[in-house]
Amino acid sequence: MLSRREFLQRSATGGAALLATKRFSLPATAADSRVEILLNESLGTISPNIYGHFAENLSGVIYDGIWVGEGSKIPNVNGIRKELIDEMRKIKPSVVRYPGGCFADSYDWRDGIGPRDKRPRRTNFWAAEEAPSSPAAHKYDPNQFGTNEFVQFCKLIGSQPYLAANLRSLPAEAFYHWVEYCNSPAGSTTLADARAAAGYPDPFHVAFWGVGNESWGCGGNFTAQEYAVEFRRYAAWLPVYGHPLSLVASGPNGDDASWTRGFLEELVRKGKSQIHSVYGFALHHYAWNLSRGRTQNWVEGKGDALKFESVDWYELLREGQRMESMITNHWQALAENDRDHSIKLVVDEWGPWYKPGSEATPGDLLEQMPTLRDAVFSGMTLDIFNRHPEKVAMANCAQLINCLNSLYLAHENKFCVTPVGHVFAMYAAHQGGQAVRTVFFAPEIHYKRDAETASHWGLQGSASLHDKDLVLTVVNPSVSESREVEFVIHQAKIKSASATVLTHSDIHAHNTFDQRTVVTPQTKIVEPTQGALVYDLPPASVTKLSLALT
Ligand code: AHR
Repeated sequence: MLSRREFLQRSATGGAALLATKRFSLPATAADSRVEILLNESLGTISPNIYGHFAENLSGVIYDGIWVGEGSKIPNVNGIRKELIDEMRKIKPSVVRYPGGCFADSYDWRDGIGPRDKRPRRTNFWAAEEAPSSPAAHKYDPNQFGTNEFVQFCKLIGSQPYLAANLRSLPAEAFYHWVEYCNSPAGSTTLADARAAAGYPDPFHVAFWGVGNESWGCGGNFTAQEYAVEFRRYAAWLPVYGHPLSLVASGPNGDDASWTRGFLEELVRKGKSQIHSVYGFALHHYAWNLSRGRTQNWVEGKGDALKFESVDWYELLREGQRMESMITNHWQALAENDRDHSIKLVVDEWGPWYKPGSEATPGDLLEQMPTLRDAVFSGMTLDIFNRHPEKVAMANCAQLINCLNSLYLAHENKFCVTPVGHVFAMYAAHQGGQAVRTVFFAPEIHYKRDAETASHWGLQGSASLHDKDLVLTVVNPSVSESREVEFVIHQAKIKSASATVLTHSDIHAHNTFDQRTVVTPQTKIVEPTQGALVYDLPPASVTKLSLALT
């Protein structure tokens, strides 16, 4: 006899197989799909840090995107773009990672403190990729935006800083001095005095520290074992000032679990207690290969951000869906040496990555134009994180502004919120909620994938409970079919409901500096019938249902 969970899982993976059991009776409606929300099956608390961001010193992200300078005509707060601050305050941005990415492992934090007119200019890690016509600040880091400015930015937007330390080219001493600069109490150390001299007597209390970045590649070309040795050394002693530090270890290249195993095996060679030096284990996942299996070449495999067919839409979502198996695979691999799961996953880079050509500001490196496709991708990804709250402690979308899957685009005095930014605004309501098991039953989608017919899941999403309020987010990935869905809430009735929907009739739709509101969410009140709800989800949409329960 199947347990209820097994039954639900089998039915759910069976796509169109709607429930016909004594426990879950079929709806008396013509709905083609159904969502079961099991309020008494909590999955854990959704960490607000799942809704984190990433801002690397890369092309237009910092200089132009975030930092415009105090003397700028562009409205700013102490040099930081005001429109960005105003927009970010709306989305509850829990945490921001900085300064990289690959940039982090060539960055000396000491260049970015002290009087701005005395700070050195340095060659940016990304300089060689920049065009000759790129702004000087993109190639030669003027260090006008450093630790003080970043922490101020975080304060202004109501976020926590997450700093990535340089493991490749600075000694461990520079790391603990950075911690000392940020966190030592006022008046206690020479570095606390330097911080005070810059106008910041109070400690910054930075809790999250990355120990390197992509240490298998740009972060030092280490093997997993070599990196574990370095990690142990960097983590062996760090100053704490009554606030524990949360160290994030650099994770694998893609889904390579041999890195995960190799790192932990070497780490615990010095004793199992070494596990406790690691707060989080980083995963990075970019959906980039839209070649439908034709190539694994990093350049040739990429698709276009704006020019795409339906098949590319589904292909991107399939690539993004890999996030879920990455989470479960690496969680299992960690468990081989960390049975109690003291180490959590930190997905500190994620998003689609297209080929160049769609930049809002021509010449901005890695900048791409987010469309409705990226909004659906982002909703899908955030739902995956919500479904694994006990595993994923933090996630950071790559990258905040003027880059890959950006929430915002800006250039000089121009600014817009992308469809991805709107998804973050919608999903902010999940933060801190109790994730509850939710099972989706919908007809599978069939589409032409070269000579074959491929299938794709019909609906996915996540739900979180906040006292008597339920937040339910659902992605309808079909480019052409709406879904009439019956929402069945076990152990409660719906008192009132509203729906916020992000969609457009054109799957390529996007916002630009000139047309800033092409893709914007619409909210309306919806009427439950006898405590239940049937609702139509449009094609190519992300929907948030806010339900008051009795
Ligand atoms: O986000 C862009 C780059 O992608 C980051 O610098 C690096 O960590 C990753 O490879």
